[in-house]
Amino acid sequence: MLEVKELQRVDHDVLIIGAGGAGLRAAIECGMAGLSTGVICKSLLGKAHTVMAEGGMAAAMGNADARDNWKIHFRDTMRGGKFLNDWRMAEHHAKEAPARVHELEDWGAVFDRTKEGLISQRNFGGHRYPRLAHVGDRTGLELIRTLQDRAVHQPNLKVHMECTVLDLIKDGDRIAGAVCYWRQTGRFVLFTAKAVILATGGGGKSWSITSNSWECTGDGYALAYEAGAELVDMEFTQFHPTGMVWPPSVKGTLVTEGVRGEGGILLNKDGDRFMFKYVPEKFAKETADTVEEAQRWLDGDKNARRPPELLTRDVVARSINAEVKAGRGSPHGGVFLDIAARRSPEYIKKKLPSMYHQFKELAELDITKDPMEVGPTCHYFMGGVKVDPDSQMSRVPGLFAAGEVSGGMHGANRLGGNSLSDLIVFGKLAGDGAVAYCKATATPKLDEEQVLTSVRRATAILNRETGENPYLIHEDLQKSMQDNVGIIRTKVELETALTDLEALGARAAKVKAHGTSQYNAGWHEAIDLRAMLIVSEAVTRGALLREESRGGHTRDDFAGERDEWVKVNVVSRKGADGKMEMESVVRPPGPPELVAIANATLEELEGKQNG
Ligand code: FUM
Repeated sequence: MLEVKELQRVDHDVLIIGAGGAGLRAAIECGMAGLSTGVICKSLLGKAHTVMAEGGMAAAMGNADARDNWKIHFRDTMRGGKFLNDWRMAEHHAKEAPARVHELEDWGAVFDRTKEGLISQRNFGGHRYPRLAHVGDRTGLELIRTLQDRAVHQPNLKVHMECTVLDLIKDGDRIAGAVCYWRQTGRFVLFTAKAVILATGGGGKSWSITSNSWECTGDGYALAYEAGAELVDMEFTQFHPTGMVWPPSVKGTLVTEGVRGEGGILLNKDGDRFMFKYVPEKFAKETADTVEEAQRWLDGDKNARRPPELLTRDVVARSINAEVKAGRGSPHGGVFLDIAARRSPEYIKKKLPSMYHQFKELAELDITKDPMEVGPTCHYFMGGVKVDPDSQMSRVPGLFAAGEVSGGMHGANRLGGNSLSDLIVFGKLAGDGAVAYCKATATPKLDEEQVLTSVRRATAILNRETGENPYLIHEDLQKSMQDNVGIIRTKVELETALTDLEALGARAAKVKAHGTSQYNAGWHEAIDLRAMLIVSEAVTRGALLREESRGGHTRDDFAGERDEWVKVNVVSRKGADGKMEMESVVRPPGPPELVAIANATLEELEGKQNG
C-alpha cells in the first residue's frame, strides 16, 4: 500500500504550471520578490506553444503611426471582442502592453527596427494602426528566449521539465499544491505551495484541425474546474483563418496573419479577391477613417487603405468557410493566400522567413513564387478560468491563472497579436497577485488522501487487465468536435456532440495503457483525455446555451448578435453532484470612463500618445 511519505516531495512558495510567455513572466515576478518559485513544464523549457505565435505582440507604442495610443487599442479590443470583454482586463492590457514590450527589449529581445531605430510595428486584423512589435515571423520564439534567459537567472527559481500535473490539492477551500508525474520515469512527485499560477495555454487538441501543439490538451481549464474554480465563456473558440491545408500530415499548422499584415491577399479558385464581398457594413462604417473610405471598402475598391483581408479573424474564417462550401475553394479544400504577387522575394524572405521555410520544407512550395493554400484551424480559446481582473486570482483562494487559460480579456473574439501582449501583461499581474497572496498566507496543511486518490486514478489506467486504446478515443473526440462544434454551429449538431461526449466519457473511464509507467506515451495520452473531455463539454454546453452569433461563436439557427446576450457571461462549474453546471451570469456595467472610450470616435481619441 503506497504511502505519501514514499513520494518525492518538493516545497515551493509558488508553483507555476506552464513555461510559456505567461508562466515565465509570472515566474520572474515571483522570483524577483524572493519567493521560492517552481515552474513546471510538460515539455522542455523553451518549447512551449508560445513559440508558435508568430506575427507579433500588440502594443500601442505609436512607432509606425503617432496617432496610436492605449485608448484606441482598448477601443479596438472591445470592438473586436464584441463588447463581451472584461472591461478592466482590456484596460490593463492596452495601458500596460507598451511598458511590457519595452521591458522585453531591456532584457535583450531583438525586435525588427524602423529606419529611425524604433521597434518596428506591423498591421494585423482589427487593429486601427500598425501595432504589432515583431521579430520577423518568429516573435513568440524571441519572447520565450528572452523571458527564459531572465527566469533561469533568478536565484530562487527552479524549472521542473517534462512533468505533468495530475491534480491540484487543497487545504479546505484554498490551494495547497499539486500531484504530478515525471513523463520520463513515470514516478510521482508531490509539489506543495501556498499559491499556484495556471499558465497552461489552450485546448485545441480536442479538434482534428488545429494550430495547437501536442501539449494543448486543456489541462489548466480542467485542473481549475476540478478544484472548484469557474470557467467563463468557453463557447468562444477562435478558428484562425489561415492554417495549412496541404499536405495532410501538417493540416492545421499556422500560417501567420503576418502574411496578410505584410500585404498578402486571399483569392478563390476563380482568382476573385472574395473578401470584399464579406465586409460587414456596420464594421466598415465603424472602422474606416472616413465615410468615403468605408464606401470604398464596400464598393470593393482594390486600393482601399485597409484591406478586407485584415478584418477580424471571425469574419475572415467564416468567409473562407463560405467560399469553400460554395465550391469556389482550392484543390485541397482551402483558398489561396498570395504574397508573391504583392511583395518581392527579398522582402518576403526578410519579413516572413519561417513561412518561407515552412512551405518549402513541408509543402514543397516557394511562397515567393506561388500562392499558398490555406483554411481555418482551431487556434485559441477566448474563454477560460474566471479571474479577478486585477490580481488574476480565481474564486479558489491561492489559485491564479494567466494567458490563454484565463478568460475575460478577449470577449467573444481575440484580435491577432493581443495574445503575446496578454501573456506578458497578465503574467506579471498574476505574479504580483501571487506574491501579495503568499505574503499574507500561512503554509497550507497537506491532505494525504487527496494525494493518494490522484495517484490511484493514474495507476488504474496501467493496472486494469483490459480496456480501450486511448488514441482511438482521442480520434473520435476530435472528429465529433470538428464536425459538430466547428465554425458554424446548430442545436442539432451541438446535441449530437453532447451525446458523443457522454459515450466518450464512459469509454475513457475504462481506458487501458499497456506496459509500465516509464516512457509510456499511451499512458500520457490516456491521462490527458480527462482534460480534453471536460474542455469539450464546457465549450459545447456553452455553445448550446448561447442562442446568438457573436465573434468566434456562430449559430446557424440564431443569426446575429442579440442584445440580451451581451449582458451575460456563460459560466461553467462542477456541481455538487459531480456534473457540469451552466449558468448565464449578468455582467456588471462597464465603468463609465471606459464605456466612453469604447464608444468615442477616432478623432476624439487620436494623437494623444498614451494620454
Ligand atoms: O497569425 C499569427 O501570427 C498568430 C498570432 C496570434 O494568434 O496572436
